[in-house]
Amino acid sequence: MPGKKDASSSACRWGKRSIRVWEKGDGPDYRSIFFDIQLDTQREGRSCGMCGIVGYIGTRKVVPILIEGLRRLEYRGYDSAGLVYEHGGRLVKYRAAGKLSNLEAEVDENIGVASHTGIGHTRWATHGAPTRDNAHPHSDCTGELVVVHNGIIENYGRLKKELEAKGHRFASQTDTEVLAHLIEEYLDDDLVTAVREALARVEGSYALGVLWAGDPDTLVAARNHSPLVMGVGEDACFIASDVPALLPYTRQVIFLDDRELAVLSRGSYTVMDVDDGAVLDKEVRTIDWNAAMAEKGGFKHFMLKEIYEQPQAILNTVSGRIVPDTGAVELPEIGLDDDAIRSIRRIALVACGTSWHAALVAKYWIEKWAGIPVEVDIASEFRYRRLLLGPDVLTISISQSGETADTLAGIRLAAELGSRVVTICNVVGSTMTREADGVIYTHAGPEIGVASTKAFTSQLAALFLLTLYLGQVRGTMDPATGKALATGLVGVATVIEEELPRMQEQIRVLIEDYYDARDFLFVGRGLNFPIALEGALKLKEISYIHAEGYAAGELKHGPIALIDRDMPVLALVPRDSVYQKTVSNVEEIKARQGRLVLIGTAGDEHLARLTDDVLYLPPVHEELNPLLYTIPAQLLSYEIANRRGCDVDQPRNLAKSVTVE
Ligand code: F6R
Repeated sequence: MPGKKDASSSACRWGKRSIRVWEKGDGPDYRSIFFDIQLDTQREGRSCGMCGIVGYIGTRKVVPILIEGLRRLEYRGYDSAGLVYEHGGRLVKYRAAGKLSNLEAEVDENIGVASHTGIGHTRWATHGAPTRDNAHPHSDCTGELVVVHNGIIENYGRLKKELEAKGHRFASQTDTEVLAHLIEEYLDDDLVTAVREALARVEGSYALGVLWAGDPDTLVAARNHSPLVMGVGEDACFIASDVPALLPYTRQVIFLDDRELAVLSRGSYTVMDVDDGAVLDKEVRTIDWNAAMAEKGGFKHFMLKEIYEQPQAILNTVSGRIVPDTGAVELPEIGLDDDAIRSIRRIALVACGTSWHAALVAKYWIEKWAGIPVEVDIASEFRYRRLLLGPDVLTISISQSGETADTLAGIRLAAELGSRVVTICNVVGSTMTREADGVIYTHAGPEIGVASTKAFTSQLAALFLLTLYLGQVRGTMDPATGKALATGLVGVATVIEEELPRMQEQIRVLIEDYYDARDFLFVGRGLNFPIALEGALKLKEISYIHAEGYAAGELKHGPIALIDRDMPVLALVPRDSVYQKTVSNVEEIKARQGRLVLIGTAGDEHLARLTDDVLYLPPVHEELNPLLYTIPAQLLSYEIANRRGCDVDQPRNLAKSVTVE
């Protein structure tokens, strides 16, 4: 695995944080580590952590391409946006605070300008207000050199002082502007050399695009710890933070790796090592997504479209991985032979947010069916605690984007400690997929809505397949059970497909009594506890209603004190092995005048006696309830947010891809 390194190294390759061996662990294979995180907290950077960048050099008019690219990247950040194009030997720059539509309005008159080279940016501010002055592109003193940047320049403060002392004048509070001036400082007549010299001085993360009026036939891009993909078309080259921006133009892409620099011109490109300038032979990959997949396709919001795409996403994830006759699961991409699988003593699941909820479900499945102890960590906790990992611990990251900074840091640490790393990921070629020993791709297609929906259920499908595979290889699950569960997984996609329109209709009516709630509780037990957490997360992130998820059995240990008429409770009550227990908890809520929304199994009349607001779902295999019960939780959040007039696809303060910690 690239980057695997002995844990006893005194400094970590990925960032300034130092790592040292703290003690020898409880066995020859275990090493424990202690992190000195002090340096991380001294970061000086103040720019954009998860922004989107786009660039084009070719023969077509550039402004519409930049705007379309930014539109497709807007999910990454939408605090401000900007673009610059070259025209008649000059650089023409537009920037606007707020959403991309503000930039479009600014540039409107020049949309058809005969320019064929430009770069653009959509920002998610980490520090520094989302104002026009802080919006990218940023310029050097002359205004003839511009930079768009995604990442954080950690030593920007020191560099800025040095540059100011040399007479450079700064116009923003961002770290990115330092890059423009630093390149200017080194620029004579060779842009590429100047960029390389500047980057040699820079600490931190970057994906960047650079244009210089003095060499308008060249666009320079570089990457270090922030995603950047190049698109290759006829007579044109592109850069973008993510593949959807390229899909209308090309599906031929090159994923840049850390410390690589690309020199793009009309129809040709060179990729080189930033440090030694060595030219690299990069693989051109063909993406099997198409442009329509990243369109709303008649739906009001991407989120709703993606909710409806779930049956297909689950089937795509399962497809080709289950042998039809036997129900056996095949997962060669995991990269572990049977002996290696049999020698796993523990699994560490690492993820953030919604993906972490998928991990929580998987713990129930894997422990039950494969008999392997599983620990589940939020990646931002995992990376800063003492880890007991070794070669017999399998670390699995779960990530839609494959770029989430904390999760990525988590698997890098796990690899350093000798753990094998598998990632479950939706984005082909993303950083996690390139660093892991094995990859199980979810095939959900591009997920554009900031709130994750189809990525989650396809992660569940992938994790369920993995469970079956582990149980099969380790002999902890008999083939007949394996076959029934595999068949059930395929069947649940059909059930979701059939039930979706009815569910949505019923929920649309039901939410009239709830959409103006200030708070909401979601409860469930067993496999449905993580789904309660997921339901609460969906509601809070897109409707801004305060919501909490609880294990139903936990209520009387505190949260039941909250129950009154103003605290609606959504309870997941399928007829499963903990049904009676969950019903008891629901009765306790009702006894305290709680308002209940119940989601349960068709035919369960008892639920209708507890509340008028019951949504019935067809019975599926108990193990697969998490996939099915997620759907109404998503729809409830969607309908409430829509009813409240919220910006469903781009909720405030959020970005799709969290590439800073
Ligand atoms: C919530 C959501 C986030 C992501 C989290 C991890 O709807 O989308 O909580 O799940 O930021 O992102 P990935 O899966 O890309 O690592």
